[in-house]
Amino acid sequence: MQIIITAPQKLQGAIKVSGDKSITHRALLLGALAEGITTVEDFLEADDCRSTMGCLRSLGVTIEESGKKIQIRGRNMMLREAEAPLYAGNSGTTARLLLGILAGQPFKTTIIGDQSLSNRPMKRVVEPLMQMGAEIAGDGDHLPLSISGGNLHPLTYNTPQASAQVKSAVLLAGLFAEGKTTVIEPAASRDHTELMLKSFGAEIETDDCQVTLKGRPLLKGLPVRVPGDLSAAAFFMVAATLVPGSEVLLKSVGVNPTRSGAIEVLQQMGADLELRNQQKYGLEPVADIMVRGGAQLSGVTIAGAMIPRLIDELPVLAVAALSAKGQTVIRDARELRVKESDRIAALSGELRKLGAQITETEDGMTIKGQARLKGARVDSCGDHRIAMSLAVAGLTASGDTNINGAEAIAISYPQFMTDLRSLSIF
Ligand code: S3P
Repeated sequence: MQIIITAPQKLQGAIKVSGDKSITHRALLLGALAEGITTVEDFLEADDCRSTMGCLRSLGVTIEESGKKIQIRGRNMMLREAEAPLYAGNSGTTARLLLGILAGQPFKTTIIGDQSLSNRPMKRVVEPLMQMGAEIAGDGDHLPLSISGGNLHPLTYNTPQASAQVKSAVLLAGLFAEGKTTVIEPAASRDHTELMLKSFGAEIETDDCQVTLKGRPLLKGLPVRVPGDLSAAAFFMVAATLVPGSEVLLKSVGVNPTRSGAIEVLQQMGADLELRNQQKYGLEPVADIMVRGGAQLSGVTIAGAMIPRLIDELPVLAVAALSAKGQTVIRDARELRVKESDRIAALSGELRKLGAQITETEDGMTIKGQARLKGARVDSCGDHRIAMSLAVAGLTASGDTNINGAEAIAISYPQFMTDLRSLSIF
């Protein structure tokens, strides 16, 4: 599928972006493990979350959908052996978090994925889960992997990379082990798993980059309300910032501090973003974000402990950097190379087709600001966030930008083009 982006005069209006992907996955997974009923309101209806739902249904979980709400009948920690391999689609979160849960189930399950997911590293979860006692067969680092679980022991694990998926897989396995499981990260990653486990009744202690879970808790189903996805909102935060005269209100967006680095970096660059109506959905902070366009941005350095707080927003922040005065340097972001695509290579290559000057480095990129972009034919590289970042770049280009492979957007934000059209004034 191809989409064509034409620069609007301005963006104006209010939208509620799609539900948070990370939180939707976790609500489904914990709802499946809990005792009783979990309802999930404003969940993300997108391909990745459908992958998690499909896998859970194959494991005997009853999930009913009505409108914007789903109801999950929890199986009180015991899933049912699946009859066929589970298909995780394009979703790393589905594969890695499910491996954590399956490590605690006394049967064998095989997980498969699409071509992109089958190339992504799994050793990072395979290693700690095997240390806890799971048996995992396959090449040890890529799907398909077959896991036989049960009889786990607790673990204290130092993760080499700050990854919420690794941390979550170990904590979810830790639910099935008697005693305390601890994960220590080099920098703090998103803490949605910890917050939701707490809401469901688990005992969790956190201290900076360290989290400890007491095993074998009683998890009780509950109503979960999903905030808007900051990673989806980020496309409109940047779009409205870059198109002068824009005024966009993004309603009920999750602003958990372990996720909200993009807001801070954009403000540091000079963008006009204001948080209003701050509240909480369960333990998750939520706010409306008001964005006004036209501010002159300045280049920044994005590195270190900030990276896990905005890892998924780096592609669209790179687009913002193209309009800034001076250069922007992104470092310590090697993880971008093992996402749904090699995002450093994909983004540099595609943005160059629009006239950007970007130097790729091993762990990031250097972006020259004040670029004059010209519409061209570009490709999503099969990656939803690359497709949407290119669409935002297209809003600032002269002439039309044609994005091939735009069907990838449905992975995380099927309403993206509808939302963009509803805000665009030509
Ligand atoms: C996610 C964690 C991050 C992020 C991904 C979603 C999660 O991945 O990039 O989109 O829901 O836990 P890593 O854990 O690999 O950093």
